[in-house]
Amino acid sequence: MDNPWWHSAVVYQIYPRSFADADGDGMGDLRGIIDHLDHIAGLGADVVWLSPVYPSPQDDNGYDISDYQDIEPVFGTLADFDELLAGVHERGMRLVMDLVVNHSSDEHQWFVESRSSKDSPKRDWYWWRPAREGMEPGTPGAEPTNWGSVFGGSAWEYDPASGEYFLHIFSRKQPDLNWENPEVRDAVYAMMNWWLDRGVDGFRMDVIDHISKDTTLPDGVVRPGAPYGEGGPHYLNGPRNHEFLQEMHRRVFAGRDALLTVGEMPGVTVDEAVLYTDPARKEVDMVFNFDHVWADRGADPWLLYPLRLTRLKAIFARWQAGLAETGWNSLYWNNHDQPRVVSRYGDDSPQWRERSAKMLGAVLHLHRGTPYVYQGEELGMTNYPFGSIADFRDIEALGHYAQAVDHEGRQPADVLTVLRARSRDNARTPMQWDDSPQAGFTTGTPWLAVNPNYKDINAVAAVADQESVYHFYRRLIALRHEEPAVVYGDFTMLLPQDERLYAYTRRFEGVELLVIGNFTGEPVRADIDEAGAWSAAELLLTNAPASADLVLEPWQVVIYRRGVTR
Ligand code: NOJ
Repeated sequence: MDNPWWHSAVVYQIYPRSFADADGDGMGDLRGIIDHLDHIAGLGADVVWLSPVYPSPQDDNGYDISDYQDIEPVFGTLADFDELLAGVHERGMRLVMDLVVNHSSDEHQWFVESRSSKDSPKRDWYWWRPAREGMEPGTPGAEPTNWGSVFGGSAWEYDPASGEYFLHIFSRKQPDLNWENPEVRDAVYAMMNWWLDRGVDGFRMDVIDHISKDTTLPDGVVRPGAPYGEGGPHYLNGPRNHEFLQEMHRRVFAGRDALLTVGEMPGVTVDEAVLYTDPARKEVDMVFNFDHVWADRGADPWLLYPLRLTRLKAIFARWQAGLAETGWNSLYWNNHDQPRVVSRYGDDSPQWRERSAKMLGAVLHLHRGTPYVYQGEELGMTNYPFGSIADFRDIEALGHYAQAVDHEGRQPADVLTVLRARSRDNARTPMQWDDSPQAGFTTGTPWLAVNPNYKDINAVAAVADQESVYHFYRRLIALRHEEPAVVYGDFTMLLPQDERLYAYTRRFEGVELLVIGNFTGEPVRADIDEAGAWSAAELLLTNAPASADLVLEPWQVVIYRRGVTR
């Protein structure tokens, strides 16, 4: 079989609310995206992934969909969408949609009908359950299980009209669809086919390892001090998850060419990922795992730990080895759910921001897998200097604050410290296009404040400067397109015990690449065998003057290439 095109592709993710606002209402829109497609094409990206643009009450910024086959009016119309799709295709790129089918909005007609009566033909499309046996419905503790929802509170919402509860792993406005019901699956597949027939090129599948639940719905373990039990073990990677994805493949993807499918899978293990991405099993092309973006937290996501580079390297080494023979990796630092990587794993001070952003980009992109660039990452955009809780908009941040401060008695200042580092709103501040008011994102009032550093960090400035993070990312992407060793080389991690340097080689058909990134603000010598041989090799890319003896400057990255006998 020929190698799939997405092996050498780079994906650019757009978060539409925050990308570009063409009509001045403070919210990004499809016209805004159309106006800026050349920015993405200029970077060399092959694929655009659009976060949800469907009609939605926006409780979770569009990850709560009330109509799967239309466009949210705030973002535009289906005609605008078709124009966007054509614009993407004209530039030789592909467009991947977000598919959010673990849950719908509670305002989706399916749920409205489901809720209308216990006898509704759609009742079983969602997870309705009576109160815990022997308990008065609607009273504390009467929920069918003790699971907590991801955004705080119980995962069950009581519906007084019918006296039953419905399950929502995320917000109460995101009821979980019941994939056990074949009618639900039929409806989802029909909708997916409708989009593919319209010309889209694939799907990024939201929390797609949540769709199969343990139908006995057991209580979860309660961690000490936690208000709820852990539902995860009973709804993550459940008994029918592979079966459902194989069925989806047969009913939607089979016989269609050139698609890209990527499953978002919080908590997925390497062994499971091999199964999900084994081409012979016909499930998905690749998955998003979370291990490397959870490297600086504990079991409690709201506890911060400094990054240990050895831990991060061990994680990547495990994933690179695990999917070396079968399956395929995705590679990402950022998306709309993660704080900005330059603030997180790099150094966003004026002195080292650009250099560390480039180093992080290079270290990531030279792994084996398909890299994803999140809007603004190519500018080295940083976390936002949040003041008070009033500065946040994200349901997760607000839910966590309420839970931690109001119910667990934690100090507001401590909770804010964590949110500043961790909140998803860091990723969602408007794209910084130029140095005009509101960074050129909108002529109105943006729905979330623009980062005050936009005068220095913006696309116009970055495109004009050949030494910018933008041009470095452009070179990285070009390197992937030109050098087969970047795509197919075997991966070997070097210096696994070193807390300062991230180093590895890639080897493919007589070519070997060496990548070394310095994760510190000090010069560090790379003690790598045959150092002499490497420093005489061709230096493909770096972000600082390279020394002859592999001494890396603060936050420097070097990529060398040499010929080897096979
Ligand atoms: C994952 C999405 O990326 C996130 O933004 C969303 O809140 C949850 N899934 C629920 O859809």
